[in-house]
Amino acid sequence: MAAVLIQDLTKEYGTGLVAVKALDNINLAVEKGEFTVLAGPSGSGKTTLLNMIGSLDTPTSGQVLVHEIDIAKIDNRRQADFRRERLGFIFQSYNLIPVLTVFENVEFPLTLLKRFSKDERDEKVHRILAEVGLESLAHRRPGELSGGQQQRVAIARALVKEPAVVLADEPTANLDSVNGEAILDLMKELNQRKKITFIFSSHDRMVIERARRVVRLKDGRIEGDEKRAG
Ligand SMILES: Nc1ncnc2c1ncn2[C@@H]1O[C@H](COP(=O)(O)OP(=O)(O)OP(=O)(O)O)[C@@H](O)[C@H]1O
Ligand SMILES: [Mg+2]
Repeated sequence: MAAVLIQDLTKEYGTGLVAVKALDNINLAVEKGEFTVLAGPSGSGKTTLLNMIGSLDTPTSGQVLVHEIDIAKIDNRRQADFRRERLGFIFQSYNLIPVLTVFENVEFPLTLLKRFSKDERDEKVHRILAEVGLESLAHRRPGELSGGQQQRVAIARALVKEPAVVLADEPTANLDSVNGEAILDLMKELNQRKKITFIFSSHDRMVIERARRVVRLKDGRIEGDEKRAG
């Protein structure tokens, strides 16, 4: 079973003369545990494709199955549940909640899931903060952290509920090369250890070189798909 299966996916924005085909008949299968980068120039459709996989936006035609579920076909409430349970998002600009501490930011998605006791939440948050090397900063607020540290918090927040698939849109774009590399190594290590599927976008050559699979987009189409060892 593929973690993500995309079939004949097209996304158009606007209509008539101003229509833009952001995605043009995409077919792609991503297996469980893959570490895949969507590469391609600005405007090639990377963010649009991630948004479709994450059901943050709806396709014009075609379908996206995540763990065999077609999220566009289920009702809105179950869609939100599915996103909460199964997907982790990491954004270029971190998107942390400024008034919450590091600990509370990472705890937040577990609170939304409602099925964990306070003790269970504490245990999970402490464990993931240790894994991303942030235990000693648990009581700080995002404004008191460096960019690389904020992105580690965002990774911890995405992973704390052990999602099936983590989607990351240019996760290193706001970081310098040293921090960008450290974040990528961390994502790769968590991918290998937890067997969580990662799909992320990047323009960055350093990032693209370290991915195990590179799907190249251009003008909304897949123009290359390369798998590597290791
Ligand atoms: N909400 C929208 N309304 C209209 N057009 C859009 C919208 N979102 C994206 N587009 C268009 O769709 C195309 C793909 O955009 P997308 O953001 O997916 O590219 P990208 O590969 O992520 O680029 P970047 O590397 O700059 O982030 C572009 O031509 C863009 O202008
Ligand atoms: Mg983008």
